[in-house]
Amino acid sequence: MDQFLNDLPKAELHLHLEGSLEPELLFALAERNAVVLPYASVEQLREAYDFGNLQDFLDLYYQGAAVLQTEQDFYDLTWAYIERCKAENILHIEPFFDPQTHTDRGIPFATVINGISRALDQAETAYGISSGLIMCFLRHLSEAAAFETLRQAEPYLDKIIGIGLDSSEKGHPPAKFERVFAKARAMGLLAVAHAGEEGPAQNVIDALDILKVDRIDHGVRAIDNPELIRRLAREEIALTVCPLSNTRLKVFDDMSQHNILQMLEQGVKVTVNSDDPAYFGGYLTENFIALEKGLGMTREQAVELARNSFEYSFAGAARKAKLL
Ligand code: HPA
Ligand code: ZN
Repeated sequence: MDQFLNDLPKAELHLHLEGSLEPELLFALAERNAVVLPYASVEQLREAYDFGNLQDFLDLYYQGAAVLQTEQDFYDLTWAYIERCKAENILHIEPFFDPQTHTDRGIPFATVINGISRALDQAETAYGISSGLIMCFLRHLSEAAAFETLRQAEPYLDKIIGIGLDSSEKGHPPAKFERVFAKARAMGLLAVAHAGEEGPAQNVIDALDILKVDRIDHGVRAIDNPELIRRLAREEIALTVCPLSNTRLKVFDDMSQHNILQMLEQGVKVTVNSDDPAYFGGYLTENFIALEKGLGMTREQAVELARNSFEYSFAGAARKAKLL
């Protein structure tokens, strides 16, 4: 079954590039850029990856991202993830990046996006892996800061397919970003948002009704509202669910408690994703394997989940027809 899941053709729709920064590369980049780390070794850093909640993780994730400084660093980060995709038969990706994590440290927006884009272009030419890059706003920062980030992205709109919303969900509801999402959508960008990860089902409703998103990232708390579950199924609003992330961040105590297959059986268009694999202990195939081991996912369910990842991707019609 593990080999079957690895070889199953898949798309990944919820992956933070900064969250694919493995401790080994983090140490190598720290050395290259003369950044002093508060950890003596890769092992010590890995031991620190013991999170009680989303914020515990975010604190380490933003700290780790500080080693990313040059265009080559962003290229190396992205290319390392693409090599994983190649090994796991991931044919299409829609990765996230968090420009504010870098621009707030004085790294130019151009440095970040040019490094990432060079790797994504090479993924297409070297491996035939198609992609659509999604730029996330950090929701713990202000609306004005999100508008400024959108302004910085304007010369690069040919490299970005959509916008997203991530970071601390509690205390930063979707409504805070209503106007910047409206502007981005008017510019032709698609929209997604993290909602219903640690926050309530109402955040999923508000992401749909106020931000008018095309997909929901996580969305597992939707289960608390049966009418919302029926709506997600009826309107075919896909959820990008991240099983290992949810257990590592204590959204669920144990994989046996996870609701992804329950939602699948209720007709919700759920997909499997790895979120921040370097921090949560597994890439996409490992997430599928965890569902088999923890929830008894069948081959048929795995095939349906993988099919959803193509069907609800933002790939163009011609590419989607090839993937499906
Ligand atoms: N939730 C919110 N913000 C994030 C996440 C997540 O799972 N991963 C990276 N930034
Ligand atoms: Zn995420």
